[in-house]
Amino acid sequence: MINERSLFLDYLAQTSDSPLMLEIEKAEGVFLFDIQGKKYFDLISGISVSNMGHRHPKVIRAISDQLDKYLYLMVYGEYVQSPQVKFANLLAEQLPPVLNNTYLVNSGSEAVEGALKLAKRYTGRSEIVAFNNAYHGSTYGALSVMGNEEFKNSFRPLVPGARFLEFGNFKDLDQISEHTACVIIEPIQGEAGIVLPPKNYLKAIRDKCTETGTLLILDEIQTGFGRTGTLFAFEQFDIVPDIICFAKGIGGGMPIGAFVSSREIMSVFKTDPVLGHITTFGGHPVSCAAAFANLQALLEEGWVDQVFAKEDLFRKLLVHKKIKKLRGKGLFLAMDMRDNKQVQDLIKILLDKGIIVDWFLFKDDSIRIAPPLIITIKQIEEACQLIIEALDQI
Ligand SMILES: Cc1ncc(COP(=O)(O)O)c(C=O)c1O
Repeated sequence: MINERSLFLDYLAQTSDSPLMLEIEKAEGVFLFDIQGKKYFDLISGISVSNMGHRHPKVIRAISDQLDKYLYLMVYGEYVQSPQVKFANLLAEQLPPVLNNTYLVNSGSEAVEGALKLAKRYTGRSEIVAFNNAYHGSTYGALSVMGNEEFKNSFRPLVPGARFLEFGNFKDLDQISEHTACVIIEPIQGEAGIVLPPKNYLKAIRDKCTETGTLLILDEIQTGFGRTGTLFAFEQFDIVPDIICFAKGIGGGMPIGAFVSSREIMSVFKTDPVLGHITTFGGHPVSCAAAFANLQALLEEGWVDQVFAKEDLFRKLLVHKKIKKLRGKGLFLAMDMRDNKQVQDLIKILLDKGIIVDWFLFKDDSIRIAPPLIITIKQIEEACQLIIEALDQI
């Protein structure tokens, strides 16, 4: 009989020669269960998506309630759809007053596309400043501001006008000028291997943007929704962006993204041309119902307040001679190893032991540790014990 593994390889587009090929039957909380019933700790949250764990009961209930009402009605922005309105309102309540207007999309890449278009349209400028080792997504605009040659070179020509600065270099900020429409930056770089900005760096960028009339776009697609110990990472850097992008952890596991700005900035999408950004499925009612329940639960259940204590526990328990360094913020951690061979060996052994970790797109000698925020103390102890045992084996 043809099994699903071979159908997967035959009929689904592959993007590498070595897919993990786990066959997961169910996911609950911090665990995935494969078709043999083997249990895996998901220590990467499906790459920073399942911040509230898999199948959070309040998210599941919200989805189910919405399924009883309607699935889909109309392209973005025409009908008053309760799940969209409720979510945008709750989101605005968590943000500084100036970030009060949300455009709902399907994904992180689309949020970035929308934000870049908005900045160009609002300022009438075309230059975009981005950073080496930045990751903002895989569509053309997002790819054009990716700070890695290897991943984008084969897809040229890209969107023109991108200028790349070294992340953390204050001197480079002189290149932000009256020609710059926007600066797009991750407050903590993710795929670069969890790179924190130096002290006051984001403030210096904010000041330079204000001085030159440039819009500051923060990409909080990975850092948002509690991952770094505050609801949004920018809260830790004493800045307010002009536009902020969300996706991944925003939807409790459902596909949704958003870019948020002020009413004044966002209003340029209404004219010249009308319908400045169009999306058929952006802000899908079922995704919005999930996002609303997810955010409500995140606010009510106190998980974000526990993130720093959980980070401390990981730091206390993950001590081993083969770990060069444990870096990061909150539950957005990178474990530096000697080289990619060690990383690959460790990933394989951990998989056998029932732990899922990963490396980073632009840093393959580090292990990504970004568990759901709902992971318990006991689960962290158990997972770290298994990681230490695996380190002894490589
Ligand atoms: C910081 C950042 N921005 C943008 C994206 C793109 O999001 P998506 O894959 O939903 O398009 C990602 C995805 O990994 C990301 O980490």
